[in-house]
Amino acid sequence: MTDYKRILVTAALPYANGPVHIGHLAGCYLPADIYVRYQRAQKRDIKFVSGTDEHGVPITIRAMKENITPQQVVDKYHDLIKESFAQMNISFDIFSRTSNKIHHETASGFFTKLYDAGLFEEKETEQFYDEKAKTFLADRYIVGTCPVCGNPNAYGDQCENCGTSLSPDQLINPRSTLSDATPVKKKTTHWFFPLQNYEPWLKEWIINDHKEWKNNVYGQCKSWLDNGLQPRAMTRDSNWGIKVPLPNAEGKVLYVWFDAPIGYISATKELTDKWADYWCKENTKLVHFIGKDNIVFHCIIFPSMLKAHGNFVLPDNVPANEFLNIEGEKVSTSRNWAVWVHEYVKDFPGCEDVLRYVLCANAPETKDNDFTWKDFQDRNNSELVAIFGNFVNRAMVLMHKLCKGKVPPLHADILDEADQKLINNIQQAATNVERLIEEYKFRDALFEVIDLARKGNKYLQEKEPWKKVSNDNEQGTSELNQKLIDNCLHICLQLTANLSILINPFLPATSKKILHLLKVVDKMLDWENAGKIKLLSVGYSLRAPELLFRKIETEEIAAQVEKLKKGSMQNAESKKQIEESKKENEVQVAVVKPEIVYEDFAKLDLKVGTIINAEKVEKADKLLKLEVDLGFEKRTIVSGIALHFKPEEIINKQVVVVANLAPRKMRGIESNGMILMAEDENGKLHFVNPDENINAGSSVS
Ligand code: MF3
Ligand code: ZN
Repeated sequence: MTDYKRILVTAALPYANGPVHIGHLAGCYLPADIYVRYQRAQKRDIKFVSGTDEHGVPITIRAMKENITPQQVVDKYHDLIKESFAQMNISFDIFSRTSNKIHHETASGFFTKLYDAGLFEEKETEQFYDEKAKTFLADRYIVGTCPVCGNPNAYGDQCENCGTSLSPDQLINPRSTLSDATPVKKKTTHWFFPLQNYEPWLKEWIINDHKEWKNNVYGQCKSWLDNGLQPRAMTRDSNWGIKVPLPNAEGKVLYVWFDAPIGYISATKELTDKWADYWCKENTKLVHFIGKDNIVFHCIIFPSMLKAHGNFVLPDNVPANEFLNIEGEKVSTSRNWAVWVHEYVKDFPGCEDVLRYVLCANAPETKDNDFTWKDFQDRNNSELVAIFGNFVNRAMVLMHKLCKGKVPPLHADILDEADQKLINNIQQAATNVERLIEEYKFRDALFEVIDLARKGNKYLQEKEPWKKVSNDNEQGTSELNQKLIDNCLHICLQLTANLSILINPFLPATSKKILHLLKVVDKMLDWENAGKIKLLSVGYSLRAPELLFRKIETEEIAAQVEKLKKGSMQNAESKKQIEESKKENEVQVAVVKPEIVYEDFAKLDLKVGTIINAEKVEKADKLLKLEVDLGFEKRTIVSGIALHFKPEEIINKQVVVVANLAPRKMRGIESNGMILMAEDENGKLHFVNPDENINAGSSVS
């Protein structure tokens, strides 16, 4: 770590096509902010840049939907997004935008440099074109019926209902969203970046040299590289974006994924004249915080562009997070299944840190994770209020009661084992938090802090300083007892000061509140103070206690769940629409898997078999273990039909079996083949079999 002279942290540029939701925060902005705040406390030279991504199809689609211009879209959402981040205390050094002049110049210059080096290949390809609107259509502009699930509004690149990725060719009744015209294919010229040439270098750089990257990131890179890279078009037909800086390139703009990451460079330029220190000097540590859908762009495409350009540093790490689901379902902005940040801050004023806490505690660091309002309430009430807030409050209240509102002295001669242990715990926690943050393990780091507060509570509970006070005799509290009280509260207050340092990267507003109670200045939060136990001077008088967190009531979260459900009503609406269209398109949907040739079909070995035994599979509600006679042999086949048939009612039934399917283990049982079933519109299963019993082993073709 320390051989770096400076650190540059980027957080993905969100599209300025809508507000940000808590999935955005959890995915990259919050982890980036925690990392940056920690590094700042370490007094490292660090810059934190981001901004809005204002080009590309997501913007033009939104403009169309809202019936305003793309410029109006980006102006509106840039402001809203920037404000939401500020309200959540995401501490960018700059939050810029890709529509700025400096960015247009930087991105054009970058393209020109690669062009002049002869790196692009100019190629003519066929693209979909809308003859009515007289424009080429990005895949997103083409909608039609999904061949897989029947959703009538699937996009040309993906069906949002079933998640299948599609190409416009696969849609049933494709139509242009601009004019409803049926898209036709038309020739167009673009500039392709030869990604494949960077493959050997990328393999070396990532697969060999960056084994420390997170598994999810490393794995995705490896699979891209194993599959082989293709040339990629770096321009598009559109009139919204950065014009391709070449003659005869009318109607062509830079591909948004070419221009947006260059936005990190432009933002740094806008921030400081010393921008080149951060981008071009060897000993800079560049870290990209992103969500998992951005991995290929930040680990493969952008580094290749930087490499091709030359003179730029490459990312040291790309700690991408997975996705945060909400109440068990994937976030869907179009169906309004989301918790919007600008709404949260209105509904829970002063509780910004609570959201930061819950999102960090549940961060999808290694796998998709779930946000639920119940968990939000539980974590607030039983962790922030009952552990962290409670400890700080008890320390403050007891100090006022038993030590006259001042930091009591520490009597080293009578320190006991419990005192020493807690002091060690403080030092240990500081070391652990530091290591975990450097390793991008923010959840674990946060748990260390909470755990330290928990230990503080336990210590107080065991020491019971309030019991050492005697009011019943004339002498009052004995000298020894007062010393024991002093030691206990001295340590608790030093622990409180430490908690403010350790929690600062995660919950900056809470940290500020503690500083206020302790009447100390920001300077105390410098990381070099973490783990020290002489942060507060003896005899210093402190403020009256104030609660750090309030309880969150059940009614409040019930209201939030209610709000989400309204979204899910819309959800149900669109599901109904899908069901209806499925019926209309019944025949079409049935025949729409991509065409195959006879040879493909001939690979299947279909045989008639007779079920001679069937039994339930333990601990698997859906599975039956079948014994099937195929004439020449008997097979064990595990089949997912247990919810539809009782074992005894299917004995002696004939079935069609895919006899040459590779064996597969299910619940520890090897299944050798598969039986064919038909599903009706109500989801009920029916056997597919000969109209009368025939010899087992007969071929089906
Ligand atoms: N706008 C993209 C998204 O939201 C992210 C762009 S990141 C950048 O998925 F590197 F291109 F800027
Ligand atoms: Zn679908």
